[in-house]
Amino acid sequence: MFKDYPDGDLFIAEARREIPFDIKRIYFINNFKDSSAVRGRHAHKKLRQVIICLGGSFDLLLDDGRRRQILKMNDPSIGVLLGNYLWHEMDNFSGDCVILVLAGDHYKESDYIRDYNEFKKRS
Ligand code: TYD
Repeated sequence: MFKDYPDGDLFIAEARREIPFDIKRIYFINNFKDSSAVRGRHAHKKLRQVIICLGGSFDLLLDDGRRRQILKMNDPSIGVLLGNYLWHEMDNFSGDCVILVLAGDHYKESDYIRDYNEFKKRS
């Protein structure tokens, strides 16, 4: 991150450098209206993604089948790698939360594991 005060902070990430794959898709999530919203609740078979909290905050639960941890995401200079076979859930979104995800492949529903018991069996 460059501190370009007073012109704002500049954040940079390059594919195959800070982001450990070629980026084929990006998506972002904003406009959280319901404080009880929960997103994610799945793992991926092959997909790798990097998730960044651009503004506001949320909680990111990570579960590799053996251990669980919850990260407070509130720093836009931090990208968390969501590797494959990593169950993830997001909740506790602030109203001003903006989440950016950089993905290593196009959207494929067949790559999702949406059932936690199936994830536990495979992980
Ligand atoms: P999903 O990945 O389940 O969202 P989250 O993990 O944030 O809760 O996706 C929600 C819906 O959007 C689901 O029907 C699939 C669709 N979708 C796409 O069509 N393309 C995409 O790139 C993504 C991320 C989701």
